[in-house]
Order: sequence, then C-alpha cells, then structure tokens
Amino acid sequence: MNNPYIVVFGNEKGGTGKSTAAMHVITYLLRQGFNVGTIDVDARQGTLSRYVENRRARQKNTGENLPLPEHRPIFRSQASTVIDAEQEEKEKMTEVMTEFKNYDFIVIDTPGSDTHLSRLAHSYADTLITPLNDSFIDLDMLVRVKPDDLNIIRPSTYSEMVWEQKKNRAIRDGGSIDWIVMRNRLSNLYSRNKEEMEKVLSALSKRIGFRLVSGFGERVIFRELFLNGLTLFDMSESKSSLSLSHVAAKKELKDLINAINLPEEMKKAS
Ligand SMILES: Nc1ncnc2c1ncn2[C@@H]1O[C@H](COP(=O)(O)OP(=O)(O)OP(=O)(O)O)[C@@H](O)[C@H]1O
Ligand SMILES: [Mg+2]
Repeated sequence: MNNPYIVVFGNEKGGTGKSTAAMHVITYLLRQGFNVGTIDVDARQGTLSRYVENRRARQKNTGENLPLPEHRPIFRSQASTVIDAEQEEKEKMTEVMTEFKNYDFIVIDTPGSDTHLSRLAHSYADTLITPLNDSFIDLDMLVRVKPDDLNIIRPSTYSEMVWEQKKNRAIRDGGSIDWIVMRNRLSNLYSRNKEEMEKVLSALSKRIGFRLVSGFGERVIFRELFLNGLTLFDMSESKSSLSLSHVAAKKELKDLINAINLPEEMKKAS
C-alpha cells in the first residue's frame, strides 16, 4: 500500500482561488475513482467545508451521482499558550493523517493568512499549488520587486515560509515538495500588467524553485457552482449544458491536473 499523495492549496494572500481550485481537483480525482480525504485547515472560514456540505445537500435533493470526499475540518486550538496550542494542532493533524493513511489522495485547503496549522499543512505537501491573482499586490507575497525596472530584490514572506516547510518536510521523511504557481482570473485582454507579471514570474520561478502553469481565466461560473456544490467536472451529471467558456475552463483545469507530477501507478489509473 502506497502512502496517500498529498496536494496542498496555499497562498497567504486571501481570495486567490485556493478553495475553488481545491474543490475542482478533488472532484476530478473522485470521478477518476480514487479515494480522497480532504482537510480544511481554514475551518473558521470553512469555504471548502461548505462546498462539500453544499454538494452533499445537492446530492440528497437531486439524487445525482455526485461523489464526495471524506472531509475533516481542523479548527485552530483555543489553548492558552502558544506551545500548547501548537502541540494540540500537531496532534489533530497527525490524527487525521493517520485516519486517511489508506486513501489515494489527501487534499488540504489552507487559509489566506499565516497560521501554525497552515504552515504544518504545507510541510506535508507532495505538491503545493499556489493560485495567484494577476496583480502586483498578489505577487508581493512571493517577491519584492523594484518598482522602476521590476528586478527581483528578494523573496518575501510566503516564499520564505514555503522554503521553511520544504526543510521541515525533508527532516520529517526525506520527501520533497513540488511547488506549482498558477495565475488565476486572467483577463482575455492584452495588458501591460499581464505581460510584466509573466516576465517577473518566469524569472522568479527559476530563482525560488516553483513551476509556473498557465492558470485559469476570469469566469463567473465558479461563483454559481459553489452554491450548488458542483464543479465543472459534474456538468454532464447535472444536465447543465456546457458553454464554450465552460469547455475552455475545463481545459485549463485539466492542464493544472496534468501539471501535478503524480506517481506512475496513479497516472495509469487516471
Ligand atoms: N477564475 C475565476 N474566475 C472568476 N471568479 C473566480 C475565479 N477563481 C475564483 N473565483 C472567485 O473568487 C472568490 C475567491 O475564491 P476562493 O474562495 O476559491 O479563494 P481563496 O483563495 O480560497 O480565498 P481565501 O483566502 O479567503 O480562503 C470566489 O468568489 C470565487 O468564486
Ligand atoms: Mg479559501
């Protein structure tokens, strides 16, 4: 029995599409017949947890075949000292990981802020996926650039955190974290900002060690899907018709999934 393959969605910047992308990857894997355990370490906000609940409700109400993951939210500890809180969170995480030890995949959604639970979750990643809105405000979490020539000054907080967790992962089990950065909500229009982002991200990917994938366009459909607990991979099931924009969005999602370096035995099944 292999260990579960762990995919973590993370970015300390809020609202970049982590939970949305996570639910799509989860549904894709479920529809391939894999067992998927999911963890929400952003349990207070609970977007992924609610997405799963909405899906369960939809399944119950419509009888549609909507495969569900085994889902666990992990809340932040209320312990009074930092040491106790971190210890309790570590124990909870280990408990859930042990519970999911026979699953094919574990997908973890993290908050758009720096918390101990989020750092811990990152340290378990086989693949870390960081969605990034196409703006220099989002990029600032990854790198400081000089405003005049956009040259890289130094990696910033989130990149440093990922670097730390790569070390923690190596210490725990000798494993490594494959880091993928994807741009989200890309507009169809040409813009100077878009081109400059591309340039900085390409330079940065070599310097701090992530792979850049093409990402998702701006698509209103994502908002509607959440309320129904559906993803683009369920559209034929829910008898909704696929527009051209949906087809394009599905292709972008498949490109992201293909970018994940799955172990050989998991690729064959997919
Ligand atoms: N490609 C997209 N096109 C249009 N809207 C999108 C796209 N991706 C995400 N959204 C919307 O952006 C909002 C934020 O997405 P989401 O909740 O997935 O981000 P998040 O990174 O998980 O946020 P947080 O940091 O608060 O957890 C949601 O309303 C979602 O529907
Ligand atoms: Mg979220």
